[in-house]
Amino acid sequence: GAPVEFDLTPVAEGQIVKLFWRGKLIFVRHRTAEEIKEAENVDVASLRDPQADSARVKPGKAQWLIVYGNCTHLGCVPLGHEGAFHGWQCPCHGSVFDTSGRIRQGPAPTNLPVPPYQFVSDTKIQIG
Ligand code: FES
Repeated sequence: GAPVEFDLTPVAEGQIVKLFWRGKLIFVRHRTAEEIKEAENVDVASLRDPQADSARVKPGKAQWLIVYGNCTHLGCVPLGHEGAFHGWQCPCHGSVFDTSGRIRQGPAPTNLPVPPYQFVSDTKIQIG
């Protein structure tokens, strides 16, 4: 599939938008300051799939989290703003993801992966 451009301007703070790229669901999340703080204030070594939040977002763009939208357990679609870590909770077997999309509880083995993307302007990303 070809790269797709996505304009972030209409995505309000706190909102999660779904889009498809190469037939795969992707979440675009405009994180609040509180959600960013939660994602950053984690002992990375304590995580099942240890990744710093800074490695999952672009420099200077911590408000934007872009991740694949299928649970890394068996592929269900986690529900946003749910679960003990305010990220997502999977309705199928209860995996809980934090505001960085990292697995925190439940059976999913790994974090929601970050797709390949880049900022092509201050308010626009290109996925792929
Ligand atoms: Fe998400 Fe099983 S598919 S927890």
